[in-house]
Amino acid sequence: MSSPLARPYTPVGPNLSIFDPLFIGLDEFGQPVHLSLIYRNILLGGEPGAGKSSLLNNVVGHAALSDDTDLVLIDGKLVELGLWRECADVFVGPDLDHAIDTLERLQKVMDNRYEYLDSQRRQKIVRDDVMRRILLAIDELAYFSATVGTKIEQDHFSALNRDIAARGRAVGIVDASATQRPSSDIIPTSLRCLFAWRWAGRCVDDSSSDVVLGHGWTNRGYSAARIDPNNQGEGLLLAEDGIPVALKAAHMTNDDIIRVADYAASVRRTRAANATTPNLGAVA
Ligand SMILES: Nc1ncnc2c1ncn2[C@@H]1O[C@H](COP(=O)(O)OP(=O)(O)OP(=O)(O)O)[C@@H](O)[C@H]1O
Ligand SMILES: [Mg+2]
Repeated sequence: MSSPLARPYTPVGPNLSIFDPLFIGLDEFGQPVHLSLIYRNILLGGEPGAGKSSLLNNVVGHAALSDDTDLVLIDGKLVELGLWRECADVFVGPDLDHAIDTLERLQKVMDNRYEYLDSQRRQKIVRDDVMRRILLAIDELAYFSATVGTKIEQDHFSALNRDIAARGRAVGIVDASATQRPSSDIIPTSLRCLFAWRWAGRCVDDSSSDVVLGHGWTNRGYSAARIDPNNQGEGLLLAEDGIPVALKAAHMTNDDIIRVADYAASVRRTRAANATTPNLGAVA
């Protein structure tokens, strides 16, 4: 009998693709859980210290090791995703103007890709496509959508994020965003609904859990408020199964991230130095 650990097969290193499922953690039986990210967006929510940034680092790590994926990283805290800076096409710290400028450029890339697909009479990108995939990862979403800048700027940021979440999937753009409580003042409901995959780390109450996972899950017995506050990284994942499953997220220490990020950066530098064709979809 083959080991359940052997499936699904996910290659490692520079042959990894964002089309390969991400190893996201262990279920309540200790079995590995894998998650397909391509053509999807994922929202991470939960109280301070729940483990959102740690999980987002896993998503970024998978994308950084994926030979077919460019990284656009936006981090209101600077240090959560900062270790991946050398791997990123664009890294944005706590700077709303830079974040808006970056999303506008990403929107342009998205429009160009649709024009290209249209010219080819195609509807979406596929695994062996020439177009590179792009991971847009945003940590501390609330910093940009509700904390700094004017209301007009915050709304502009959210509108851009909504457009990319809505139209980006078919052209290979995956949006992964993390925020403590994704209520409507932080993330417009119309944007929140575009995140098909959700992970709720420990939440302070049932209503906060429902805000992350979607209304009604508490009444059906799924509330992230029941998670032990000391069990960081434990959460409810709402994804392929269609109902939330308990998930202890995989965790990389600071040193782990540095090791993986340095390796991914060196692979990327080598590829860029040997590239014979320019990356026409680059955001940078
Ligand atoms: N999967 C995990 N396994 C073990 N420990 C974890 C895990 N995830 C997070 N932790 C621990 O919890 C701490 C807080 O996690 P993290 O910074 O990801 O929380 P957060 O939800 O992003 O908090 P904040 O809202 O304040 O940004 C980490 O520094 C780490 O020590
Ligand atoms: Mg965090």
